[in-house]
Amino acid sequence: MEIRDVGVVGLGTMGAGIAEVFARAGLTVTAVEADSGALSRGMAILDGSLGRAVSRGKLTEDEYAQIVGRVRPGAALGSLAGADLVIEVVPERLAVKRQILAELDQVCRPDAIIATNTSSLSVTAIAAASARPGRVIGMHFFNPAPVMRLVEVVTTVLTEPSAGQAVTELARRLGKTPVQVTDRAGFVANALLLPYLNHAARLLETGYATRDDIDLAVTAGIGLPMGPLALLDLIGLDTSLSVLEVLDREFGGTRYTPAPLLRRLTDAGRVGRKSGAGFYEYSGAATGGDSAVFDNEDQPPPPGTVTLIDHQDRSAELASLIAAAGINVTRNPAHPSDLVIVAIGPEGGVIGPATAAGRAAESVGLHLATLSLAELVASPVTSARALAAARALIARLGLRAVRSADRPGLLVGALLYPQLRDAVAMVGDGYATSADVDTAMTLGCGYPRGPIRLLADAGVGTAVEVLRAMHAGYGDPAFAPSPLMTQYAQGGLSPVARESPAARESPAGHESPAGHETPAGR
Ligand code: 3HC
Repeated sequence: MEIRDVGVVGLGTMGAGIAEVFARAGLTVTAVEADSGALSRGMAILDGSLGRAVSRGKLTEDEYAQIVGRVRPGAALGSLAGADLVIEVVPERLAVKRQILAELDQVCRPDAIIATNTSSLSVTAIAAASARPGRVIGMHFFNPAPVMRLVEVVTTVLTEPSAGQAVTELARRLGKTPVQVTDRAGFVANALLLPYLNHAARLLETGYATRDDIDLAVTAGIGLPMGPLALLDLIGLDTSLSVLEVLDREFGGTRYTPAPLLRRLTDAGRVGRKSGAGFYEYSGAATGGDSAVFDNEDQPPPPGTVTLIDHQDRSAELASLIAAAGINVTRNPAHPSDLVIVAIGPEGGVIGPATAAGRAAESVGLHLATLSLAELVASPVTSARALAAARALIARLGLRAVRSADRPGLLVGALLYPQLRDAVAMVGDGYATSADVDTAMTLGCGYPRGPIRLLADAGVGTAVEVLRAMHAGYGDPAFAPSPLMTQYAQGGLSPVARESPAARESPAGHESPAGHETPAGR
């Protein structure tokens, strides 16, 4: 079945984006909203996005006119009688979706496919409301739909294979990469993304780190295109909350229980970009997620001499960086100096070595998360003066810095490793292959490398160590390394598995990292 004529029900941000994707691929689109105000707002989103492409020279006026000409606004579901496929993109409420499916049964051709763009609800539960459950399927796009290349094609026990094939082929014609998954809460991408975003919100609300530091830790420390709080604003806090509620019901545990701050901001109507404010304010150009943290004018001059205290063999790289910047380094705590730096690992732990040196108030912990990002850690007795001197040192070294609580994982690791753990657990559960996981996160969420590749690059041993420290520190089983991850570490195995039927059956499939290609390496 070749799909040429499609309907889109619901023209919010995602619906308008999906309508644009269809129309750009040459399909005829009927875009339906019951309310005329919502219909014109949706058409304006679509028009604005195409207009931006024209102004950036990505579309000609002619192409713009042809694409717009393929989209017909419709005020009622009755206008979808001729559609080969209809996708619903209405709010994430099961009862609303089931009602729409029942109404579509009355108007659509019996062989038409009914797709749902649900982010997390059970496609089976939605399909069961239809008189043709075999033709109901999940077709999950990612925000912004015109940009992100992933489509999760979600089949249920009821889906006819021909519907799955038709939607998979359609996704390819749209220029997207389909990943086929079965009906489990959050599918692949949201089940990995949302717990991590939730954790970031919790770190903010507990004062673990500031908004800007959390986002900078992720963009500069992990290399993702957006920080988690900026991404929550893009997705919408209300949408994120409803995905988390579904994940919480299905899986349970602290990773999924929504951070109270998400609920408070949603209650306050601060749901992100679409409402003009979320974690950030959007008055036009603001995007959030990246800020020069220590560029302020009041910074003191950099220290002339630094005492470097080695904690668990972490100081060699730091010592040469400091020396290369023309700053004296001494290892002797009794020697006078302007600042004491405790070189720490991602497990943290400043107060012990700082106290042992007898200079706790002057000591600041420093961890090089990458060659360009430092994590600064104060102990409970670190003075404001020492912290300011450490910031000046960082600026002098040409690094960016984030300040973290002194807890296992610090900031970058606390955001990164639990997500890598979740990814390996998903592979260990047999829900997705490691290749599927990496495809989903690179093409759906713009990761330069998927979590499995990130884990291989960071080293499974390091990840297991940090996770064990987090587990011991918080007593939360959500941080314990998954059994498969522990096996990878014990066997010295790479988590990057070959994409083959054998890998699907045996998630521990092993190959050298060089044999695997990710869409964008770093
Ligand atoms: N609509 C249409 N096009 C858009 C757009 C939008 N809202 N935002 C950006 N673009 C286009 C731009 O026009 C530009 O196109 P061009 O290259 O053809 O000129 C391109 O995207 C890049 O945009 P910018 O240069 O302005 O910005 P960035 O390079 O910073 O990229 C981004 C912006 C693509 C949003 C990038 O930051 C990114 O990939 N972020 C991660 C987004 C993500 O994770 N999405 C998934 C969320 S989860 C989800 O949706 C599932 C749901 O169920 C919850």
